Amino acid sequence: MRPDLIRRLAHAQNERARQSLLRRLRTVTQVDGAHIVVDGKRLLNFASNDYLGLAQHPALVEQLRVAAAQWGVGAGAAHLLGGHRAEHAALEEKLARWTGRERALLFPTGYMANLGAVQALLSDGDVCVQDKLNHASLLDAARIAGAELKRYLHADVASARRQLDSRADAPALLVTDGVFSMDGDVAPLAELAALCTKQQTTLMVDDAHGLGVLGRDGAGSVDAAALGPEQVPVLMATLGKALGVSGAFIAGDAALIDGLVQFARPHIYSTAQPPALAAATSAAIDVARLEAWRREKLQRLIAHFRRGAIERGIELLASRTPIQPVLIGASKLAQAASQALEARGIFVPAIRPPTVPQGKARLRVVLSARHEESGIEQLLDALADALGSVRLTEH
Ligand SMILES: Cc1ncc(COP(=O)(O)O)c(C=O)c1O
Repeated sequence: MRPDLIRRLAHAQNERARQSLLRRLRTVTQVDGAHIVVDGKRLLNFASNDYLGLAQHPALVEQLRVAAAQWGVGAGAAHLLGGHRAEHAALEEKLARWTGRERALLFPTGYMANLGAVQALLSDGDVCVQDKLNHASLLDAARIAGAELKRYLHADVASARRQLDSRADAPALLVTDGVFSMDGDVAPLAELAALCTKQQTTLMVDDAHGLGVLGRDGAGSVDAAALGPEQVPVLMATLGKALGVSGAFIAGDAALIDGLVQFARPHIYSTAQPPALAAATSAAIDVARLEAWRREKLQRLIAHFRRGAIERGIELLASRTPIQPVLIGASKLAQAASQALEARGIFVPAIRPPTVPQGKARLRVVLSARHEESGIEQLLDALADALGSVRLTEH
């Protein structure tokens, strides 16, 4: 007899619960600057990727309103079937200019941009070399493409070289996050680019967490590493983090983008992002580029947080970006620490396996230009207390 699939899913869920790994959807009923209201409690939010504080910026909200009045809400079709509006074309041009590439192509989400680009570039039997800590969408993308996925030790260029050497003649794509989403460190991009040039390997960087935050005018981690389109021919970034909206794009030369229009299935078979969101994103790019004070403030807050953590004996990972994780280890303890913070008015969810490796559960603290120094102090005091009580439970 065949197993019942829904029952099997329920069994997997019970197993997760047993290991303190159950995920829980929580509904936010209000957002007000750096605060959110969850389950009736007003909490200082340190979980949002809205690094520059643009998600509620009046210029974006106004653009969204004006464009919705002109275009309505939905695009109504995929890009190739009448869904590609003037707002999308203008946004693509602006993204290409900002990132110093010839062209850019929009996707409804970052997950889909990664699936689309990797699957268009690679075929059965090709090799896709990836950092072990790359985002889940990149790992899924290699599998969907039918390529052989070879993962290298985190940020370890020698390990990446060994993986490439093991398939010396195969067409190869090396993919890395620019800024690692759960650790906050920056990939060794210059060294990876040199390796790729030597090994005739195409380099793709997912800069979801670097765009808007790093580089000149916030052009991202690739720009900060002084690399151009020659070294990094495939650049992906999302619009839902520092830009405060939603969606994603791939940027590169005309040959890449024309190829993606033909072969990137999520672009071909998904409804285009609502044009009003494209208009709001254009406004977000203007603000992100012009208001450099947001990046400067963010850097000040990062320095403040790191200094305060050292003073309180809180160990941090080596990150200079707004992602400042506090490693806990056991999932149960990470969950307890997150709950202790919440009791003190601070929202920092615990990140547990399989999002992070076994034994590396953590509090993923995310800083934003929306925060103030006083909020960082509040966070640091609460963290010191929460970690203290969690360590007591441990012993
Ligand atoms: C590194 C990275 N790539 C891709 C994505 C997916 O982007 P999106 O949320 O737009 O699907 C995320 C996070 O969401 C991410 O952290």
